[in-house]
Formats: sequence, C-alpha cells, structure tokens
Amino acid sequence: MSGYEEINGCLHVDGVSLKDIAAEYGTPTYVYSASVIKDQYNALKGAMERALPADKQPKLCYACKANSNIAVLSYLRSLGSSLEIVSEGELKRGLKAGFDADQIVSTGVGKSDSEITACLEAGIHQFNVESLPELENINKIAGEIGKVATVVFRLNPDVSGGGHHKISTGRTRDKFGISEDTIYSAYGNASNMEHVTPLGMSVHIGSQVFTVETFKTAFEKIPAIVHKLRDQGHDVTRLDIGGGFPIIYKDEKLLDLDNYAEWVRDIILPLDTEIIMEPGRYLVGNAGTLLTRTTYVKETSTRKFLVLDAAMNDLIRPTLYEAYHGIEAVENRDAPTTKYDVVGPICETGDTFSTDRELTEMKRGDLAVIQSAGAYGYCMASNYNTRGLPPEVLVHDGQAHLIKPRQTVDEILEKEIIPDFTKS
Ligand code: LLP
Repeated sequence: MSGYEEINGCLHVDGVSLKDIAAEYGTPTYVYSASVIKDQYNALKGAMERALPADKQPKLCYACKANSNIAVLSYLRSLGSSLEIVSEGELKRGLKAGFDADQIVSTGVGKSDSEITACLEAGIHQFNVESLPELENINKIAGEIGKVATVVFRLNPDVSGGGHHKISTGRTRDKFGISEDTIYSAYGNASNMEHVTPLGMSVHIGSQVFTVETFKTAFEKIPAIVHKLRDQGHDVTRLDIGGGFPIIYKDEKLLDLDNYAEWVRDIILPLDTEIIMEPGRYLVGNAGTLLTRTTYVKETSTRKFLVLDAAMNDLIRPTLYEAYHGIEAVENRDAPTTKYDVVGPICETGDTFSTDRELTEMKRGDLAVIQSAGAYGYCMASNYNTRGLPPEVLVHDGQAHLIKPRQTVDEILEKEIIPDFTKS
C-alpha cells in the first residue's frame, strides 16, 4: 500500500486513512507520502543511472525551497540526496537534517553577508554566483574569515523555460544569472582574487519545464563556453544543470526523463566534469496533499460555493499563478457530481482554489484533498487573516508522523509588541 489510493471507499495515503489523519490532527493539514517521495527520487536517479556511467552520476541536490520541513530533508538525505539552498535559514535546516556541508550548494541572486559567512564557515560545496558584485563580496568575506570559496557562475542562457511567466528564470530580462560575455570577465576577475576558486558554471532556466527541447536548447549553449574558458586557461570541472522537472497537476504530459538524461549524456558528459542537478518540485510535489474540511456549501442565485477550511494563506499557488490543483472528496467518492466554486474563508475573491469544478457532492463536514500540494505549498504559506499555519504530517509505511504541529494563534500574537504611545 503506497501512495494515494482508495480503500473501502476512503482515500488513504501509504496505508493510512485520511479520515483518521483529519480526526487526529484536524484540518487543514498538509499530508506527505514518504513512498511517493522515494519513488520520485528513484525515478530521477534511475534515469540518470541508465544514461550516464557509474563514475559520472550527478550529485542530486534537492532544491529545498520546494518543501523545507526538516523531516522531509532528512528523509531525502537518507535516500542519497544532496541539497540546494537559497538562504541562511535553509542552510540551518540542511545541517540540522544531517547533510554534510560538502553536499550543499548555495544559489540565489541576493545572498546576504551573513548567509555567505555561514556557508563559508560550514564549508559548503559551492556558491552559484549570479553577478560580479556578488563575486567581489564573496571574495571579500572569505578573505576576512580566512576561507577560500569554491564558485561556479550561473549562466543566463536567454532561454525561456517554466510553466508560468512568474517561474521562468532563463530569459535575458530575468534577474537571474549572468550573460556569456560576463562569464568570461567573471572568470578573469576571479583569477585575480585570492579567496575564490572558480570551477564551472550552473544553469537553471525555470520551473515546471515540460519539453526536453527547452533544456536541450539551454544545454547546447554550454560546450562552446566551456571550451572557450578552457582555451583561456581556466579550470571547468563542475557543471550544475539546475532543476525544473515538472509534475502532473491536471492532465499534463510528463517530461521523458530518459530523453532528458540522454541529452545530458550527449551534451554535458563529453565535457568531463562533475555534474550537479537541483530538482525540487519533482521530488515532493505529487507526494503532498492539503487535507481540508467543508465548512459550508453556499448557494447563490448563480453559483454553488464549496467553502473549505483551507485558504489561500495555506496554499497560494492557485491565486498567485492561476495554478490548477486537483480536488477530491476523501469519502463518498462515487456520489453524484456537481459543479462548485471551491473557495476558502479569507476576505478576498482571490481566495479561490477553482471555479466551476466538477466534484462529488459535498456537505458541511465532508473532507476533501487538494492534490499535488507537496511542493511550494506549506513553505509559501502565511498568517494572512491571522490564521495559524497548518500542521505537517509525513506518512511512512502505514504510520502517520507529525512533523510540525499546527501553529496556534497565541504563537502568532506572542511576538507582537504594543508600544506605550498606542495605549492612551
Ligand atoms: N534551482 C534554482 C536555482 C531554483 O531557483 C529553483 C526553483 C530550483 C532549482 C528548483 O526548481 P524545481 O525543480 O522545483 O522546478 N513557487 C513556484 C516555483 C518557484 C521555483 C523557484 N526556483 C511554484 O509554486 O510553482
């Protein structure tokens, strides 16, 4: 019993009934399936193993911005994953989850001084550098604390990838990466710096990238740059080819991972470098659901609203990206269907998970799941409308493990300070 399946008319995850999880932890609650995470990890690893020789297997650095619960990180580490981080907070999470510093790659366009210092002190594998000022700053900070930073430069290949314009990162107009010309100057500048060692390049063109051709177009820009850098006498021993692998939200056709891996073999492998990848969503997205309960069914003269206890503060993707997420009843799954606008309780019309969604008929108290919520779900949640963050539960082999309790309203309020002048 693994993944999500119906047993005796009730949706289960890894052998545990979602009804039992709701009874134990309340709703809304994020629920993750360990078996789906494992299957996804092994699918990606397997595709790379089929295409690349054993001594050239990529370092799979899980992009933990997708789901950064320490238990999820720890589980991925136990499966063999390394880690990509984008903040000092994520570094702390990674170290707490037991990753060796040398398994950690730091990315991001605005690395702060304290983040750079913490990464240097820890001794991370590399910084993926996004600008010349950042390079200078890393060199300066490393000099001050007597370290040498290994860096690679993030190429902006001017290739548009990504399932939505807000998650495309590889176009010239995007804030990410540096142009080919600037890569040469960056390498040149770095060779005059004592506290950085440039060892290669990275490229990440966006998220939810559906066509292998898009990756290929970006990859094809890499060899000529590598050869030119080597001709100029520079070392290029690492290539980080990013993440961006898609998952199914509705009826998308998945990327052919074997085909992807073959392009890595054909284009990247001959360059004879260490290969790094940064998968995020692919490893955790389909593993998670947001378990929620129907607060009311509200009918107006024109619409039928399914008012859930989950809201846009719990899962912002539909509001932010017009993202589609499947919605399913947990029980009475073969009841007749009807069309609902599925909404949360928050005071704005944007708090809508879907309009005109065909669902089995629901009544007050009925449970539903919002699917494919394992990536960019909990980690993008907020306290909007003073709603506590939901709990997170990781289910493994027939057992549900609470990995973060529900945040109480008192916990939200306790940090707020009322200055005296407001009290008169
Ligand atoms: N590497 C870098 C440098 C990244 O910026 C990202 C994602 C990844 C790897 C992982 O990408 P993935 O494999 O997950 O596609 N909040 C948005 C997604 C933002 C992605 C940000 N960067 C969403 O909910 O769709």
